[in-house]
Amino acid sequence: MRVHNAPIIEAANGRTPSRPPVWFMRQAGRSLPEYRQAREGIDMLDSCFMPELLAEITLQPVRRHDVDAAILFSDIVVPLKAAGVGVNIVPGRGPVMDAPIRTAADVGALPILDTDIPEVAQGISIVLDELTPQQAMIGFVGAPFTLASYLVEGGPSKNHEKTKALMHSEPDTWHRLMERLTPTIVAFLGQQVDAGIDAMQLFDSWAGYLNEPDYREFVLPYSTQILESVAGKIPRIHFGVGTGELLTAMSEAGSEVMGVDYRVSMADAAKRVKTRVLQGNLDPALLFAGDDAVRAAVARIKAETAGLDGHIWNLGHGVLPTTDAEAITRAVAIIHEEG
Ligand code: CP3
Repeated sequence: MRVHNAPIIEAANGRTPSRPPVWFMRQAGRSLPEYRQAREGIDMLDSCFMPELLAEITLQPVRRHDVDAAILFSDIVVPLKAAGVGVNIVPGRGPVMDAPIRTAADVGALPILDTDIPEVAQGISIVLDELTPQQAMIGFVGAPFTLASYLVEGGPSKNHEKTKALMHSEPDTWHRLMERLTPTIVAFLGQQVDAGIDAMQLFDSWAGYLNEPDYREFVLPYSTQILESVAGKIPRIHFGVGTGELLTAMSEAGSEVMGVDYRVSMADAAKRVKTRVLQGNLDPALLFAGDDAVRAAVARIKAETAGLDGHIWNLGHGVLPTTDAEAITRAVAIIHEEG
């Protein structure tokens, strides 16, 4: 193991960390002037296949904010792109597909990733060379529901109605889609593990749009397979937005850590999950509210997580692009001092 007593890994494994561990989703990105400069004139998805650049962007927030982990700069659609799916990331919108996947024939023609993505492995190796043994490198993949939503809708969606329509009108096609997506996700995750990541997060950002029976029938078996594929290798974090009502079911997928958004209290979340370690819960909008508001939320979350085996500090969703970079640095310092 490259890491030695890294606070995030200690907390994920239920041991006492040397300081309260913190990282923020989307800590790399538009909130940082150095990111905007590094990305200038370079397409988002292209940047994910440029080892030196992706490593530099991954490391920027670690240097600036003193967070306890680097999160791989990549995107959930990178393995699809590498497999040959026509996809672009449109600034201000998100992933947009050349052609949506809506029929059994579309699903049958969806490519499965069967090659290495050497650029990502090279980028991870550059990052690992720069990190101290106390700083963990977190890799990630998108979960099959969230990826399927982009594929079926053809782009970002407010209500995910075409995705849910496919699920309920053609359940066999839906399951076939999940069965074709899962090996691509497992392959991309396996490549990151082989490249040396210290922990992983499964992002099922849009799972919160589902009710629990649908989640259990149409999604949970596949997310379970993905987490299972790296069981015993690295700590696993499982996260979705607006998933207060799904926390019990999601925690059955098998991660060591459950990510919690900001809509549910950590006290309630703790009662709902099978895991003994939670992550998250600070409202990203609080980074606009001043240090006293951050301090108050930190005190609340600290009290609510006191009985757990571990807590990894994070936001309830990603850093908002217009967040003041200095407010992020101060929030990290407040968590290290008072968390
Ligand atoms: O710092 C980090 O957290 C790592 C980087 C990261 C990105 N995408 C970089 C990115 C991670 C973990 C992701 C995963 C991702 N991508 C998710 C799951 C996480 C979540 O936020 O719920 C989702 C849903 C996507 C799909 C996606 N890609 C969206 C919705 C967007 C934003 C579109 C926009 O312009 O607002 C992207 C693009 C994207 N991915 C950006 C970044 C930094 C913005 C690109 C830019 O700078 O223009």
